[in-house]
Amino acid sequence: ASVLVLNGPNLGRLGSREPDVYGSQDLASLEKLLVAEADGRVEIDLRQTNDEAELIAWLYEAVDTGTPVILNPAAFTHYSYALRDAAALVTKAGVPLIEVHISNPHARETFRHTSVISGVASGVIAGFGFGSYRLALRGILDA
Ligand code: DQA
Repeated sequence: ASVLVLNGPNLGRLGSREPDVYGSQDLASLEKLLVAEADGRVEIDLRQTNDEAELIAWLYEAVDTGTPVILNPAAFTHYSYALRDAAALVTKAGVPLIEVHISNPHARETFRHTSVISGVASGVIAGFGFGSYRLALRGILDA
């Protein structure tokens, strides 16, 4: 069994991008943290793209394979109805999809206060740094 950990635009720059907001660790460190948390119970399949179409294709893959998803939609969170519709296909298929954010978007600019994804997610975790992903993985493993 595996868990898809999908990361949207600009998250490939973690480590150097706004370290005051997102910390100084990169995606490779995130992967290590999640592999340690999984402790052999599931494979961690971590991916990042700046491309909305690619992210949507990965969500179809989750539907077709029944693979649980941890999704950081990044800026798509706030406006991508296409991503929302694809996320809805996942949860409507009975496959868990947890929306995660490194920062707490509600404590930031107004445009970040809206998520078009949350309404179709199984759950939402934000504000715990990389710990948001770890908590999401725990939730999936506990379920
Ligand atoms: C983010 C929050 C979004 O508002 C932002 O566009 C990101 C990262 C987070 O993980 O805190 O790229 O999703």
